[in-house]
Amino acid sequence: MEREKVLVSAEETARQKEYMDKVRALHERRTTKPLAYVHTYGCQQNVADGERLMGMLREMGCDFTDDTKRADIVLMNTCAIRENAEKTVYGMLGQLTHTKAANPDQIICLCGCMAQQPRVAEKVKNSYRHVDLVLGPQAEWRFPELLYRAYTERGRVFSIDDEPGRIAEDIPVYRVGGVSAWVSIMYGCNNFCSYCIVPYVRGRERSREPAQIVREVRELVAAGYKEITLLGQNVNSYGKDLGTGYDFADLLAEIDRIDGDYWVRFMSSQPKDATPKLFDTMAASRHVTHQLHLPVQSGNDRVLRAMNRPYTRAGYLELINYARRVMPDLVLTSDIIIGFPGETEAEAMDTVSLINEVHFDALFTFIFSPRPGTPAAKLDDPTPREEKQRWFDALCNAQNAISTAKHAAYIGKTVRVLVEGESDDADWPLSARTEGNRLVRMKGDKSLIGTFATAKISDSNTWALYGAAEETI
Ligand code: SAH
Ligand code: SF4
Ligand code: F3S
Repeated sequence: MEREKVLVSAEETARQKEYMDKVRALHERRTTKPLAYVHTYGCQQNVADGERLMGMLREMGCDFTDDTKRADIVLMNTCAIRENAEKTVYGMLGQLTHTKAANPDQIICLCGCMAQQPRVAEKVKNSYRHVDLVLGPQAEWRFPELLYRAYTERGRVFSIDDEPGRIAEDIPVYRVGGVSAWVSIMYGCNNFCSYCIVPYVRGRERSREPAQIVREVRELVAAGYKEITLLGQNVNSYGKDLGTGYDFADLLAEIDRIDGDYWVRFMSSQPKDATPKLFDTMAASRHVTHQLHLPVQSGNDRVLRAMNRPYTRAGYLELINYARRVMPDLVLTSDIIIGFPGETEAEAMDTVSLINEVHFDALFTFIFSPRPGTPAAKLDDPTPREEKQRWFDALCNAQNAISTAKHAAYIGKTVRVLVEGESDDADWPLSARTEGNRLVRMKGDKSLIGTFATAKISDSNTWALYGAAEETI
């Protein structure tokens, strides 16, 4: 699609602003401010979407509540990546029949990736009649207009057309927390990994203009944010659609020139587009952390091909060897799928052997979940669940031993951390992260929250490091 058509025009943005004003006027007629309950499931991209939806709601005169019973607007920002994610949402929608019965004026809104699927919209149309508004991620920028229609039209509003996707700037954002901020740098995915629903629900890859991203990061740094995470389904393909030759490494280098005391992270990275240039840029930067989430999915070449992941085990190893050569302190994490249709035990064990070879710092592990509409969902899948569970357990055991050993090596060391907030453990009241994004539970004064500090590590387990603040630096 041509670039002008991808970018939401100034007129279209102004129109949505008018709808925000109209909805706010409706809300102002009430005696009290309307309360919105917003719950986000899924990945960080969805969290960033949730912050935009909340930003629009605040602009339309809403306050927020954690209680669905008190809410005038309930917004479920959903995820479709695995079956369980969807089941949770249907369970929650079922419960909302009670809140709606108690408060018939309550507006129930289903948005996010699940809502973009025709099969889900059909089910909601027929079986969840208390849901008033359904919109997919592609229609998110038109939320004010759709909410206005939900208020003023008699019927229910569904906006789930399979649009290629647009880029809207100037949407208000409600940032949860003042230390870390999410910045979407691109939307959508073109990769069509055979198991994955994301390309079907998030449209085609489209990159924001570099100047817009750099401006946003500059403003966040000036506002005191200390950790900026750049988001995309595959940030390594950033810029391909700009047609200017400008790539993700160029963007990182430009952001890095912004002065200030802050860290930059990014996710996710597809190995197929990761380049030595990217790793060199990371190594030379002042602010980009030496941390890489590079999902490999499988350690077996046949399975990788069946997954439509266009790289090999050897190619992956070569990439990370290069990255570790230029960044010896690199913290490396990955995603794994076990039990892809037709995967044999020997193939699954190839993944376990890869884990033992690479020594990742942490893993996000999943058992294959068929997503209707994807090619992998149509494949024969004869392996019983219990068998897959055994392979999965072997994988987790291998990784847990590695994570435990890596964490234990920190004991006695002093590390720089960003103190993000309070923890729920009275013995270790602060929650912090190292540059490599390792969780640190630490003793120290609450005044450290939102600052960089040094922590002396005294203990560890599989999931976290434990220590005490020494001094602010
Ligand atoms: N864009 C990212 C991944 C986003 S989804 C990337 O390509 O790296 C996050 C993870 O969910 C994936 O890396 C994969 O491991 C897992 N996942 C996606 N679809 C799945 C499915 N159908 N069943 C099980 N896990 C899945
Ligand atoms: Fe899904 Fe693959 Fe795109 Fe990641 S790169 S979102 S796994 S299709
Ligand atoms: Fe889920 Fe959509 Fe993210 S399917 S993982 S919320 S892109």
